[in-house]
Amino acid sequence: MTTPGTDTTPATPSKRAVVTGASSGIGAATVRALIADGWAVVGVARREDRLAELAAETGCDYVVADITDKDSVTAAITAITALGPIDALVNNAGGALGIDRVDSADLDLWERMYDLNVIGTFRITNALLPALRETAGSIVFITSTAAHEPYEGGGGYVASKYAERVAARTMRLELVGEPLRVIEIAPGMVHTEEFSLVRFGGDKSKADSVYDGVPNPLTAGDIAESIRWSLSMPPHVNIDSLVVRPVAQAAYTKTHRVTQN
Ligand SMILES: NC(=O)c1ccc[n+]([C@@H]2O[C@H](COP(=O)([O-])OP(=O)(O)OC[C@H]3O[C@@H](n4cnc5c(N)ncnc54)[C@H](OP(=O)(O)O)[C@@H]3O)[C@@H](O)[C@H]2O)c1
Repeated sequence: MTTPGTDTTPATPSKRAVVTGASSGIGAATVRALIADGWAVVGVARREDRLAELAAETGCDYVVADITDKDSVTAAITAITALGPIDALVNNAGGALGIDRVDSADLDLWERMYDLNVIGTFRITNALLPALRETAGSIVFITSTAAHEPYEGGGGYVASKYAERVAARTMRLELVGEPLRVIEIAPGMVHTEEFSLVRFGGDKSKADSVYDGVPNPLTAGDIAESIRWSLSMPPHVNIDSLVVRPVAQAAYTKTHRVTQN
């Protein structure tokens, strides 16, 4: 309800966040959640059509970039910082490739996962650090429960997510004394449209089977809300590590499934 005479123009967003992997899943949901909470947001991903749709829906800015490509990140940093101060970076771009045992793994896939989940993440983090220092900003890493516990078939993904988590913890040690926050959100099973599809190289039936019979896996919105909440805490509060799982999942390898007859 509006009061006559009250200025109904939306308030100018007071803070700006950069969200990587904004073209789908958790990243897109995070853009929506932060914008609803009054943030200005810059979405980053490779697929421009998806980012343009999200911008039309939410009013976010976007920058097309491949975080595994040095030149692409350099150009993206120029475009992002031209938009104004940056108060938060949400490192969400990432993913899993394959489900092979360690002894028969396709190590090229391991290399690609390390390049994306670790090198790409820290390439953009390090490049935005000077801007984040200017605002006493926050850096959020979307790792995984795979960064906390191994599982069979997860070797390459687990190794890259452990590496991301440990490098983020190292960074927190190195930044102590500065007012920057380093936050980890570690999701369990989140039913997003593309995560498992990417993992299984586009095989939809294999991707769908990941969620078969699981009552209420997490949604992208559940993780987006955890991110929004961690950023909304007073600036002296650092949510070091938040593990978020669906109730049906006690561990990666201990998931309740309802069998259908
Ligand atoms: N879904 C789960 O169950 C789950 C559980 C735990 C942790 N996570 C983590 O949560 C994050 C998001 O997962 P999600 O489920 O939302 O997956 P998703 O839907 O597959 O989203 C991945 C995002 O990363 C972007 N991306 C991939 N490679 C990129 C690159 N080289 N440069 C820039 N952007 C890139 C993709 O966009 P473009 O293809 O347009 O570049 C996409 O927007 C990932 O880090 C994942 O490891 C997911």
